[in-house]
This record gives sequence, C-alpha cells and structure tokens, in this order.
Amino acid sequence: MEPTATTALSLPRSIEEIRAEFPILARQVHGQQLAYLDNGATAQKPLAVIETLDRYLRVHNANVHRGVHTLSEEATALFEEARLIMASHLGASRHEVIFVRNATEALNLVAYSWGRTNVKARDRIVVTEMEHHSNVVPWYQLAQEKGADLDWAPIDGEGRLDLDALASLLERGPKLVCVAHVSNVLGTINPIPEIARMAHDAGALLVVDGAQAGPKLELDMAELGADFYAVTAHKMYGPTGVGALFGRRELLEEMPPFIGGGSMIRKVSKELITWADLPAKFEGGTPAIGEAIAFGEAVRWLDELGLPAVHATEVELTSYALERIAEVPRLTVFGPPAGDERGGIVSFAMDGVHAHDVSEILDRHGVAVRAGHHCAQVLMQRLGVPATTRASFAVYNTRDEVDRLIEGLLDTRRIFGE
Ligand SMILES: Cc1ncc(COP(=O)(O)O)c(C=O)c1O
Repeated sequence: MEPTATTALSLPRSIEEIRAEFPILARQVHGQQLAYLDNGATAQKPLAVIETLDRYLRVHNANVHRGVHTLSEEATALFEEARLIMASHLGASRHEVIFVRNATEALNLVAYSWGRTNVKARDRIVVTEMEHHSNVVPWYQLAQEKGADLDWAPIDGEGRLDLDALASLLERGPKLVCVAHVSNVLGTINPIPEIARMAHDAGALLVVDGAQAGPKLELDMAELGADFYAVTAHKMYGPTGVGALFGRRELLEEMPPFIGGGSMIRKVSKELITWADLPAKFEGGTPAIGEAIAFGEAVRWLDELGLPAVHATEVELTSYALERIAEVPRLTVFGPPAGDERGGIVSFAMDGVHAHDVSEILDRHGVAVRAGHHCAQVLMQRLGVPATTRASFAVYNTRDEVDRLIEGLLDTRRIFGE
C-alpha cells in the first residue's frame, strides 16, 4: 500500500500504523480488500475508541449523576471528563457542551428551545442550498408552526456559498442564519468567521452544522463566532448514539429545556418545577454514557493526531482523487476545485448510469461509497441531478484506494458503454 504523499503538516504516525489501529480495514468484501470511502456517512473506529467503550461496559457500567456507589461515581467522573475533553476541543466551557444523540438532535434542540421561544410570525430564517436535511427540516417545521419564512442562500456554479446573495438576504433582518461548516455533498468549507460577522452585523444568530467539519477541522468556537454548533460522534471516529451541541452560555441560560424528565430538574413539586443548571438542563433522561466516554476518547485521539495534519492529508488525497477522476469519460464532478477550502468529499454523476448502479459495481471491487441524494434534495435540484455517487475520505485512506475507485469507475463505464 502506497503511503499518502508527504504533506506540509505531517501526521505523528505512519499511514500503516494508523491503519493498523482500525481492525475493520483488514476486512474483505466480495473477496477483495475493503476500501472504505464512505466516511462522510460514518467513520470507522480506532482501537482506542473500541477499547474505551468495551472497558466502560466491562468495568464501570452504572448510571451517572445518581448513585453514590463506586461504579456510579466512576461512570459520572468518566462521563464528565468526556465533556471536559469536548469543551477543551471546542474552546468552550463545560456548561456550553450539551451531550445529545447526534447532530440532528443538536439542531432540533436549538429549533425547539431557542426557536419556539424567539421566532415569531413573519420572522425570517436563512438556510442555504447546500444544507443537509438536518439543518433544513427543523427550521421548516419551526417556520410552519410560527408563520415565519425561510430564505435560501444560493450557491455559485462551483458549489460555494454566494456571499453577496447572503448579504442581500441579511438586509431583510433574519433572526437566524443556519449553515453547514462543510457540505456533505460538495466538500465546500464555508468561511464561518466571515458568515458569523455578517450574521451578527445584521442582528441574527448563527447556527452551524458541523457534522462534516468535526472529523476534519480544528474548531475554536470563539474564532468561528458560532452561537450554536452541532457535531456528531460517529463521523469523528466515535460511536453512534451521541453528539454534542455547543451553545453560547448566555443563550443556553435563557433557553427553556428541550426534553423533560429525570436529571434535568432542580426541584419538582405539585405546584412548581424548576430546572437544573447547565448543562444538565438540556440532558433529560439517561444519556449514552459509554458512547459519550468513547466520544471523548475519539476526540482525544483526533487531537493527538492533530486536525491540521488530518485536514492536510485529506486535502492531498482529494487533490489526487480529483486529478485521477478526470480520466473517467462522461463524468461530472461537483464542488469547488481542490485545495484547503475543500474537505475530503468527491461527489460525481456518471452520464447515463444511475448512482446506485455505480456504487453497486464499486462494491464488487471492494470499494464502499455512498449513492443517493445524501439528505440534500434541495442541493440535488440545484445541481440538476436526482442523485450523486460520493467518495469521502478519512485520515486512514490511501492513494492506492483512490486508484481502486478509479479502476472501478472505468469498469462501470465499460459495462455501461463508453
Ligand atoms: C452535513 C450533515 N449534517 C448533519 C448530518 C446528520 O448527522 P447525524 O445523522 O449524525 O445526526 C449529516 C450526516 O450525514 C451531515 O452530513
């Protein structure tokens, strides 16, 4: 296996060493070595994460924040340590990190709690044409319920957000601007600090969907300027069932709880119920304890690799993939040119071949990619295609795997006729 070319920022371990940390990468599929290029959907898990979850279940399993027995205290300490890891990763305080199920729940929390309190009839909410449904549907539901309006910030021909058009929409005085940090289809990295300044100057809050940025970019909340920021563990080399919402403390303090039940109250009487302090106010019910602890380990693992080096590695691989994919006849690639402003995502459409057929043939080559609308139907309409095939890279992918993707695509072209 050929190592990824040396990048200006190098990883602290060789690609072979990193790959050896992921047992699943040794798998065979249809008699071929697996080439897993579906990391935008979910990333594989390193041993550090697998063993942390395993150890929690074998040694520490108990409910958190309740018992005074040893196991419960250990589980609580580990769970809260995971929150501290996350807070430090985001440049936030522990009060500003809410554990949720995933990015979808994080965005819904904001729409239900902040949105239902602050958005009124005829208010406006800006979303973009490149959003995942997770950052559209909660705002659509909110707008429907309140009689508010959604405005769609357009993208340009290269799949970048049109900032002039966004500026025009901001002149209408929206309450919220909701935008992805990294597009899950185009790979576009949106300039969040600039968008934050624009939104704040217009008096709007900024909600960022960081589901795809989490595994690739350093995230400093003060630098980014987001008011709310959503991440999901399973795309960050962590387990499913857990994610995190960052919210600015003064906003979270003012917001009503999202889910009512155990753990999120201070006092319950027949007459009056009062809420727990942050972050517990937003964490009703038993959380995904072992998963959150393993999420903390995943973040530690990523921070130890160094996100600038992870990003540089993926940028290099994406450039190589974009270069090689040009060899495939009658294939359209979407998104901006290769470079630092593009994350490791390559979506394309093959003339005359449905995305599902492409991905099925690639699967026979042992290459796992995603096909469909990628929960971004408005974007598909904008691109003029029903679906795309998407290869998405992680830190463990190699040029050899990109070569196998290209071989599979050339084979697909042959099967369907040049
Ligand atoms: C950009 C983007 N936002 C949100 C999500 C939703 O993430 P989750 O399903 O973990 O809530 C995804 C998942 O594909 C995504 O790519």
